[in-house]
Amino acid sequence: MKKLVILTGAGMSAESGISTFRDSGGLWEQYPVEQVATPEGYAANPKLVIDFYNARRKELQHVKPNRGHELIAGLEKHFDVTVITQNVDNLHERAGSHHVIHLHGELDKVTSSREPNNPKYIKTLKPEEWEVKMGDLAGDGSQLRPFIVWFGEAVPMIETAIEYAERADIFVIIGTSLNVYPAAGLLYYVPSDVPVYLIDPKEVAIASGRKVHVIRKGASEGMEELKNMLLNEPD
Ligand code: OAD
Repeated sequence: MKKLVILTGAGMSAESGISTFRDSGGLWEQYPVEQVATPEGYAANPKLVIDFYNARRKELQHVKPNRGHELIAGLEKHFDVTVITQNVDNLHERAGSHHVIHLHGELDKVTSSREPNNPKYIKTLKPEEWEVKMGDLAGDGSQLRPFIVWFGEAVPMIETAIEYAERADIFVIIGTSLNVYPAAGLLYYVPSDVPVYLIDPKEVAIASGRKVHVIRKGASEGMEELKNMLLNEPD
């Protein structure tokens, strides 16, 4: 089976009702990013940050995967699919994707404030445990924090993601403005003879000058079109 690697961003989940970050009305317009998505913001006001992610986690319980997520999961019948997502929601998994790499963490997990990437302290919350409170402690006695990669923090999963990008037979980008590195740089690791598709209703600037097949549509409609193209393509 051909290796299909799909990089997704916030636009992937937009049709499920989750706001993107940089579109008008996006999350970073409502909440200053330096307050809720940096280690400095967390140090200055941990309760504000914990409450922000509690609200995101609660929202996640009320939304569902969209047709785009489902079409990606369905492609596992035809391809060896790896999803590399910048999203912290679990909608790919809930749609049935079996291999999802989360670059920016996962909303349904919490960890130690002292050693966030130590697997010993990473814990998956049960649905009824979505609300983290000040005073809830990780295994090392530090405050439980969201398992989210904030700006300025290391992105431990990037090495794994690069390995998949390097070995892709087909590479797809969906719903990301490609503003945030290192995720945005993954395309540079995709071999030059590998076809690249990009699904986004708006124009996305690709710095490398490489040929990209652009599908200017939302995630669900765009995935429908891509699926037809991929399945009708001669080998
Ligand atoms: P952005 O908000 O920067 O970009 C969202 C992209 O989705 C834009 O290109 C939109 O045009 C596109 N879009 C909007 N609606 C869509 C739809 N229905 N279907 C497909 N695409 C659609 O979000 P990201 O690029 O994902 O990181 O942002 C990257 C990272 O920045 C996030 O993971 C987050 C954020 O700060 C952290 O929190 C660490």
